[in-house]
Amino acid sequence: MCGIFGYLGNKENSTEMVVEGLKRLEYRGYDSWGLASILQEKPAIEIVKKVGKISDFKGKKFAKSHIAIGHSRWATHGGVTQVNAHPQTSEKGGIAVVHNGIIENYQELREELAQEGHKFKSETDTEVIPHLIERYIELGFEKAFRKALARLKGRFAIVVVGEKQETIMAARRGSPMIVGKGKDEYFVASDIPAFLPYTRDVMYIDDNEMLIIKKNGEKAEINFFNLKDNSEIEKRIVEIDWDYTDAEKGDFDHFMLKEIMDQKETICRAINQDTKEIMKVAERIKGAYGTFLVGCGTAGKVCMAGDYFLSKIAQKHVNFVVASEFSAYHHFLTDKTLMVVVSQSGETADVLEAMEVAKKKGVQILSLVNVEGSSIQRQSDYSFLINAGPEKAVASTKAATSQLSLLLMIAYAVAGKLEEGRKLLIESASKINDMLNPRYLTYIKAVAEKIYEQENMYIIGKGENYPMALESAIKIQEVSYIHAEGFAAGELKHGPIALIEGGVPCLVLLSKDENYQDVINNAVELKSRGGYIIGISPENNEVFDQWIKVPDVNGASPIVNIIPVQILAYYLAVLRGKNPDMPRNLAKSVTVK
Ligand code: AGP
Repeated sequence: MCGIFGYLGNKENSTEMVVEGLKRLEYRGYDSWGLASILQEKPAIEIVKKVGKISDFKGKKFAKSHIAIGHSRWATHGGVTQVNAHPQTSEKGGIAVVHNGIIENYQELREELAQEGHKFKSETDTEVIPHLIERYIELGFEKAFRKALARLKGRFAIVVVGEKQETIMAARRGSPMIVGKGKDEYFVASDIPAFLPYTRDVMYIDDNEMLIIKKNGEKAEINFFNLKDNSEIEKRIVEIDWDYTDAEKGDFDHFMLKEIMDQKETICRAINQDTKEIMKVAERIKGAYGTFLVGCGTAGKVCMAGDYFLSKIAQKHVNFVVASEFSAYHHFLTDKTLMVVVSQSGETADVLEAMEVAKKKGVQILSLVNVEGSSIQRQSDYSFLINAGPEKAVASTKAATSQLSLLLMIAYAVAGKLEEGRKLLIESASKINDMLNPRYLTYIKAVAEKIYEQENMYIIGKGENYPMALESAIKIQEVSYIHAEGFAAGELKHGPIALIEGGVPCLVLLSKDENYQDVINNAVELKSRGGYIIGISPENNEVFDQWIKVPDVNGASPIVNIIPVQILAYYLAVLRGKNPDMPRNLAKSVTVK
């Protein structure tokens, strides 16, 4: 995925604004970046492209400009080079394009254009777009853009500017893009935090729509069009309630730590839902002939925990399926099936594809998302916002515990015990608030100091803590690059225990429930093979070499147990000299298959 930001308005420092906007979007892609500004005095396009993180850019004075676009890249087609960074430009250089997504037929288009004499400089799929626009430019900038779009196959969010054009044009199909409306100015961006310092007024762009922002003297005008029939579309302005500071890391060294600490409040925000809506969904789950819980990565592990919640609390059988594997189950989908998708970003391509498979069979879709107006939310029949606020670190932390909380509450609602569930979650939230204090962080940092040089780690859990063992492994892998694996505690003796040797850290996730003694017995087995046992548990046990205490919250234990692991993963990354906010090879939202 990549980050896109564009500005057109009455401010003269649009280029600096784009640089700042891209810094706020850097979590979306951080291998290279670039921008294009329409210079006020020439008029000409100024292009700047760099390899590396935009946060490392110390800045220069840019020429005056009211119109600029920019892009932070996460490479898909073509290596990480300055030439492959966006914007990509046309043959004559007068058209500049930034793009998020994949143009699936770019090779065919490239060959076609090459035969006409077009020369390509980059290895990107994106470069065909400005060349195509230039091919049709005699029709006018707007018509040329439409003609070019009609030739593109695949997913995209595209923003384009042209020399001598007081215009920004953009189009969306399958990749996120939204508009911010300020006073006599418009912003177009991949995500809301990019323009939050300027406006909270948002206009959502649907798939197969394009927009044109034009400068008209001191004013700016915007028009939206349906790409299928060119008809004009009216858009509503939605005021979002995210605060600018929610999207900043403030005094924290990293977003990951800030977002871990946000969990003091986010659980309560997640469960603060309309009772009628929760009950409606509970009835839907009760009446469904087959319910599938679907997500990827951390959201997938949350779905797996949801499977346990519904079984244990509501005695309801549901199916957990990783989104990229969902199509294998298409035989079992009917118009009486319910699909519950979980996604922080609401833009994950594998989830969107699974939803397409389900929709073809008439399946009803409920989503739990964090990003309002995201594709997944807009394509769902019902949707709950988890209200965790912007999550910028690649590692999902507060979104995961919010999703777990809401799924747990839904399970209680299905069991006809909504108030009991709400009470448990409110009590858990208050205990999490107490737990997340500086002493707790220091204690876990000291545990990290003991193990950060290890290259392998294993995590075990049972029942609803088994998915959390898998989630713990993801957290540790993605930020510290330690090889971490999670197992169902009972599976150890069927193979994984062969991996245990002297001093290997083993995290043991426990809750004071019917599984407690079994898991302790498994920890004893690990210890007798030399494992260094770190117990994450409400009570101490002699088998632990280190004890990380968590509050006793009974059935809500996955929510509290994962938090110390998030903190441990954070410190492991920092101690190993890694930036936990921007792990190598990963992107915050995976908008490609
Ligand atoms: C989480 O730490 C990961 N970065 C990743 O597994 C993530 O949860 C996954 O890509 C799903 O993203 P989504 O919630 O935005 O759909």
